[in-house]
Amino acid sequence: MKAVIEIDGKRLEYPILEGTRGPKVLDIRTFYKDTGMFTYDPGFTSTASCSSDITFINGEQGELRYRGYPIEELAKSHRYSDVCYLLLNSKLPSKEESDEFDNELRHRAFIDEGLRKLFDAFPRTAHPMAMLSSAVSALSAFYFDHLDISEDESFQEMSARIIAKIPTLAAFAYRRGLGIPIIQPDIDRYFTENFLYMMRAYPGGKFHREVGKKAPTTIRDIEVKALDTIFTLHADHEQNASTTTVRTVASTGAHPYAAISAGINALWGRAHGGANESVIAQLEMIGDIKNVDSFIKRAKDPNDSFRLMGFGHRVYKNFDPRAKILKGLQDQLKDELNLDSRLLEIANRIEEIALSDEYFIKRNLYPNIDFYSGVILTALGIPKNLFTAIFVIGRTVGWVTQWMELKKDPKAKIARPRQLYIGK
Ligand code: ACO
Repeated sequence: MKAVIEIDGKRLEYPILEGTRGPKVLDIRTFYKDTGMFTYDPGFTSTASCSSDITFINGEQGELRYRGYPIEELAKSHRYSDVCYLLLNSKLPSKEESDEFDNELRHRAFIDEGLRKLFDAFPRTAHPMAMLSSAVSALSAFYFDHLDISEDESFQEMSARIIAKIPTLAAFAYRRGLGIPIIQPDIDRYFTENFLYMMRAYPGGKFHREVGKKAPTTIRDIEVKALDTIFTLHADHEQNASTTTVRTVASTGAHPYAAISAGINALWGRAHGGANESVIAQLEMIGDIKNVDSFIKRAKDPNDSFRLMGFGHRVYKNFDPRAKILKGLQDQLKDELNLDSRLLEIANRIEEIALSDEYFIKRNLYPNIDFYSGVILTALGIPKNLFTAIFVIGRTVGWVTQWMELKKDPKAKIARPRQLYIGK
C-alpha cells in the first residue's frame, strides 16, 4: 500500500506501513530528502516515533495490552513482579522464574550508604519527585562501569537493579520529608510489601503509630494487593511524554539511569503523572459536594485555565481501562480500606456530571487513571506529595523495557526533530 503526495506538480510515493494492530502509518522517512520540506506536528499528535512490540492501546475502544495480554487479566491474576518479568522478557514467568526474579529484586533493593547520605542534603520540604530524580541520576555514578550494552545479561542486571531500587529511594524521600530515620529494605518481604514496610516501619522492624491519627501500623494483604494492582496499571503506556523523554535521552547514548531520571522529571508535570497529586488537591479544594457545579462550570469556561484534573487523555477517547479497574477496586475496598467517604462523594458527583455533560461528551473527556488512584493511595497512608513517586515505581519497568527496545533497534537514530522557523 502506498500514499501519493503531489507537491508543485511533482508526484511522490510513500509506503504505508501496517503494524499487527492499530492505525496504518505513513512512512515519511525520506520526505525531507525528496522535497526539502519538513512535516509539522506539535505535540506529535500524528507522529509514530518508533516501532514497538511492548504495549498496545486502542484509545477508541479503551483497550490496553502489555505484550499482548489484556490489562484486566494482568491486574486480576498476576502480581506486579510477574508483570515486570513479562514486559522485560515478552513472556510470563514459570513458577521457578517468578521466584527467581522476585528474589533478585529483593537482593538488589539495597542502596549504597554513600547514596543514602545524599538524602541528608535535601531540605525536608523538598518534593519527593525532586529527591527521587536526583537520586536516580546519582545512581548512574554508582553503577557506571558495570554496563555492557552488547550483553543481554548486562541489560537484565541493569533493569532489575533500577526496578528494585526505585521503591527504596521513594521511601527514603518520604522519610526524609518526615525527618525520620531512613531504613533499608527487608529482604524477607515481597517488592510491594517491602515498599509499605520501608514507609511505615521504625528502624529495627517495628511499625510506627502516628499520635492522634489512624495510621496503618501493620501491613495487610489487602493493602499489598491494592498497591500491587496500582503498580501493574502504571507499568507501561507506550510512547507517552515520559517514555518519549527516556527514549530521547537514550538515543544520545546517555547512561540508562540518566534517561530514567529524565523520565521521572517529565512525569512530574500536572498534565502527566503529576495529575494524581493534583486530583486529590482539587477534590480537597472543592471540599463539599455542593461546590462541584461551580468547579465544573470553571472547567468548561474557555477563558479560565482551570482543568478538571484526572479527566481527558491524548489517546483514550473512551473510558481509560485502567481507570475502570481502579474504580472497581475503589468500590471493592471502600469499607475494607476505610476510604475517605467525603472525597469519594465529591469524586462520584464530578464523574456523574462530567459523563453526562455536553462539554465533556463532545470532547471525549473521560476519567483517566489518576482520577481514581488518589483515594486508594490516601487510604494506604500515602501522602499526596508521594503519589507521583508511586507512579514512578510502577512505570520504571516500562521505561527500562522501552530503553532496551530502543538500544536493540537497528533503525533507531538520535531523536532530533526539526522546526518551522518564524523568528527574525
Ligand atoms: N478539563 C476541562 N477541559 C479539558 C480537559 C480537562 N481535564 N482536558 C481537555 N480539555 C478540553 C481542552 O480545553 C480542549 O478544549 P477545546 O477543544 O475547546 O479547546 C479539548 O478538551 C482538548 O484538550 P487538549 O488539551 O487539546 O487535549 P490533549 O490531548 O492535548 O491533552 C491532557 C490531554 C493533557 C491529558 C488533558 O486532557 C489534560 O490536561 N487533562 C487534565 C490533566 C490530567 O488528568 N492528566 C493526566 C493524563 S493521564 C496520565 O498522564 C497518566
